[in-house]
Amino acid sequence: MNVSLPQLNLVVAWLWILLGFATGMVLGMFFHGENWLGGYASFQRRMYRLAHISFFGLGAVNLLFWLTVKDAASLTTGLRVAAIAFVVGAVTMPVCSVLMAQFPKAHLIFSIPVLSLILAGSLTVLAVVRHETTANELFGATNVVGVVSTEEPSGSRPLVAPITIQTNHAIPFL
Ligand code: HEM
Repeated sequence: MNVSLPQLNLVVAWLWILLGFATGMVLGMFFHGENWLGGYASFQRRMYRLAHISFFGLGAVNLLFWLTVKDAASLTTGLRVAAIAFVVGAVTMPVCSVLMAQFPKAHLIFSIPVLSLILAGSLTVLAVVRHETTANELFGATNVVGVVSTEEPSGSRPLVAPITIQTNHAIPFL
């Protein structure tokens, strides 16, 4: 399977939503027990719930990222880093929640998903503000607005030349 960015974010999105259902099913098999994992308000049970909910939350975040950049002809370096960091955050958040449930003193491991997601979010905000998420990135500052074609006298092959305009900024949604 060859999954490229940002397709990876879409795959993670739906896989995580599915894992959210699956973890909910596991919780559902035991949650009626009044004292399961030390009761509803216990630290351990809260951490397992956080793992369950984070599958939905970060699945949705990855889906939103994919929707934001899906029409870009190519991703800038910043958006590529953001795409990977959103996946790192989605993978490490539930893992850290379960690890914390077992080893409460390991709370610093949460810095991995937290910093990844803050980085990814910041880079995405920057890209959106700069209109870096549209198809015209393919052309950089030069935007192709049409093509001309002429027939050669022999009529064998048409000559096609792009008409381009030069701008300082990419034209959003061109
Ligand atoms: C197959 C679907 C689902 C199942 C079987 C399921 C099951 C559960 C169970 C059993 C609990 C209680 C855990 C406990 O007692 O410690 C729970 C809590 C929770 N679930 Fe799900 N869930 C599902 C889907 C969802 C979805 C779609 C969302 C939101 C997008 C969601 C968000 C939550 C939240 C926020 C809590 C914590 C509620 C609270 O603490 O009051 N769940 N889920």
